[in-house]
Amino acid sequence: MRGIVLAGGLGTRLHPLTKVTNKHLLPVYSKPMIYYPIETLTLAGITDILIVTGGNNAGDFLRLLGNGKDFGLNRIHYAYQEGEGGIAEALGLAEHFAEGEPICVVLGDNIIEKNIITAVKDYKKQGGGARIMLKEVPDPERFGVAEFKDEKVISIEEKPKKPKSNCAVIGIYMYDERVFDIIKTLKPSGRGELEITDVNNAYIKEDSMRWSILEGWWTDAGTIESLHRANDLVAKTGANNVK
Ligand code: G1P
Repeated sequence: MRGIVLAGGLGTRLHPLTKVTNKHLLPVYSKPMIYYPIETLTLAGITDILIVTGGNNAGDFLRLLGNGKDFGLNRIHYAYQEGEGGIAEALGLAEHFAEGEPICVVLGDNIIEKNIITAVKDYKKQGGGARIMLKEVPDPERFGVAEFKDEKVISIEEKPKKPKSNCAVIGIYMYDERVFDIIKTLKPSGRGELEITDVNNAYIKEDSMRWSILEGWWTDAGTIESLHRANDLVAKTGANNVK
């Protein structure tokens, strides 16, 4: 399985912090934000990793991460997203890197207390398709939200005004090679982006989506409030704990 960290975007919700740098280079407690999603992958045994970045300061990722020595890696791959076409567009740039292998995608501003080792194992067992990870949150309207019928996820709504559950779809996704064909069929959403939620809904429609509940805390760090929370949480318990 190959790993992809999506670290593009203008980070406008963090202005002025992101006026002269990329969101994913900002500090979260003791490390730059992007360290956490990379560790999420390496801890799950995924060591073939592509960073997709974009916007200003893309060169700083190379200076910061180099060949991945801080993570015990021998090399890291990089791709550059022109413009602000959204998460699914950024993921589309990973097609050549994936070479038909299944992939695990982590959004560069998602930080977790524990790890995804079991979810990755379960994905490998399910034999293709996709897997999302869910977490109950007090503010689901900020995220993609799962709608259930019995035990089944029947759709995901992106930032719904009236969420149909309190289960947020966190920014860690596993896909088979068909994800790249699905991305090619997408149309931009109201916010002018290719949405990862539309990719997930395509897998749900063909009944090849499964889900795991994430254990431990999860936070994004893309707003002032959530960045603050991420700092507090990491200070308190550390992130990417194996136990
Ligand atoms: C993105 C996804 C959303 C997901 C969230 C997790 O939102 O579109 O479905 O719940 O990441 O962090 P964004 O950060 O682009 O608003």
